[in-house]
Amino acid sequence: MVVFQVPGLSPELIPLRFTPRPLGFSIRRRGTLFRPLSAIGDSRSGEPDSESRNRMFILGMGFVGGFFAQQLKEADWLVSGSCRSDTKKKEWEKRGIDFNLFSADLTELSLLETVKDYTHLLVSIPPLADIGDPMLRNVELVREKLLSGNLQWLCYLSSTSVYGDCGGAWVDEDHAPNPKTKSAKLRLAAEEGWLRLGRDLGVSTQVLRLGGIYGPGRSAIDTLLKRDRLSEGQKRRASRKFTSRVHVEDICQVLQAATVKPSSGEIYNVVDDDPAPREEVFEYALELIEKRWPGIIETKPFPFVYESREQSSLRGEKRVRNQHMKNKLGVKLLYPSYKSGLQSIVEKMDNPF
Ligand SMILES: NC(=O)c1ccc[n+]([C@@H]2O[C@H](COP(=O)([O-])OP(=O)(O)OC[C@H]3O[C@@H](n4cnc5c(N)ncnc54)[C@H](OP(=O)(O)O)[C@@H]3O)[C@@H](O)[C@H]2O)c1
Repeated sequence: MVVFQVPGLSPELIPLRFTPRPLGFSIRRRGTLFRPLSAIGDSRSGEPDSESRNRMFILGMGFVGGFFAQQLKEADWLVSGSCRSDTKKKEWEKRGIDFNLFSADLTELSLLETVKDYTHLLVSIPPLADIGDPMLRNVELVREKLLSGNLQWLCYLSSTSVYGDCGGAWVDEDHAPNPKTKSAKLRLAAEEGWLRLGRDLGVSTQVLRLGGIYGPGRSAIDTLLKRDRLSEGQKRRASRKFTSRVHVEDICQVLQAATVKPSSGEIYNVVDDDPAPREEVFEYALELIEKRWPGIIETKPFPFVYESREQSSLRGEKRVRNQHMKNKLGVKLLYPSYKSGLQSIVEKMDNPF
């Protein structure tokens, strides 16, 4: 039995108790895909039968979910997810990943009939304005359905925005959240809701507080190449002193490590080692682009517009520590700084024009 205290969360959530069930995974070595030990299968056909395989449902298969789904599929997992558009569903199905249409703007939750058959659930839909987490609107129904199913593992993708403004100080998971914006408050409430649900279900439960996510197709490099100039919002955000960010491949590493390590409500900051101003990141991206494709950017997108003190403190200035994910999950970042992350994005681009 593991007893774990969640720092900074409501007292009724702690202590959490969880008796880990054997999940049957092996940890992947760096750079190689992990394989589920439970995918032993039928010896006659050589194929694992679907009942014995680990099954991941990704609620909100967006940028992170899509990357993770590909990795899981290559590692022989059964993967499915949800999105809102039929076009996206069809595109993914061509790649062999089953999709369910689900819009949280409606209160209808028949999707749970599908979700409950999965062993693992990754929640990646952000809270809706004024409503909060869409699934937790009817938490009794969700609890009832999932209790009658196969769920063993639950992970909620959150955000470092829950810490609020810390005046640029370093914060770790022990720092009490103090969200200032409405969306960050809803995010914290969603974290609490999923942790509580995970405890009630008795399944391995974790929350990942993600920094600004970037990766192939979504990075300062892509922004500069696509638009040649930044939006006013991007220029304003550029003036923040520190922004914690994380490469999507590193998020996948953490997710993968978390599937192997049972948790009764662990919270992990998932960021790189190098919180840096966005302005610095865009300057570096520009340098990389000019080196690879000289003269391609005609108008430099600088200088940036600076935010007022109030705007900046509402957004929340802080540097987020990642030691916990390294110590507990044994994760070694593939991209410890935006420099190596952006470099790899540029190197892997064939022809972005
Ligand atoms: N972007 C960042 O820098 C950042 C930083 C910290 C945390 N986060 C959070 O981390 C999670 C993963 O990030 P991401 O960048 O992978 O997110 P993303 O690409 O925006 O994907 C979000 C997913 O949620 C689905 N979704 C959104 N609103 C929905 C609604 N009303 N009903 C049903 N589905 C809905 C989207 O559906 P469709 O596929 O149909 O669009 C998509 O599949 C998200 O919760 C995000 O808010 C993001």
